[in-house]
Amino acid sequence: MFTATALQASSKSEQYAELAEQARGLLHGERDRIANAANFSALVYGALENLNWAGFYFYDGRELVVGPFQGKPACVRIALDKGVCGAAATMRETQVVRDVHAFPGHIACDAASRSEIVVPLVVDGELIGVFDVDSPKLARFDEDDRAGMEQLAKIYLDSLRGA
Ligand code: SME
Repeated sequence: MFTATALQASSKSEQYAELAEQARGLLHGERDRIANAANFSALVYGALENLNWAGFYFYDGRELVVGPFQGKPACVRIALDKGVCGAAATMRETQVVRDVHAFPGHIACDAASRSEIVVPLVVDGELIGVFDVDSPKLARFDEDDRAGMEQLAKIYLDSLRGA
């Protein structure tokens, strides 16, 4: 049975390295995308400080539909031309938003959110969804978080093909 342990490292990049190790252990041997998304969200939400939402939106061929997450109930469907999630999905590029109030079209699911990072999930050139993390703290996410979250998202995607 996997047990999440508190991160010991002090630097962000070392914390992400520890978290990546935990994510690999947690998802190892399971390929179900919902099961792994649920556990992955819980791991990230519990491990990192100053978060108020962490979870998935899956692409259904038309729009993004909320998947497993931790945090307050969220908007169910997001059009590809809307919000930070839509921008990440359309551009297929991680969006690091230091102030969500300054992001045109930001969708406020939880009024407490002040900053956000969204990583697109792409498999063999196909968009499957996004991983979205919100913080009540202004400018919570930086380039270390971009690198760390992209590494974590890859571990999730690798788990789906049993890698
Ligand atoms: N803020 C997101 C919407 C999803 S919630 O944060 C959970 C956006 O602008 O796309």
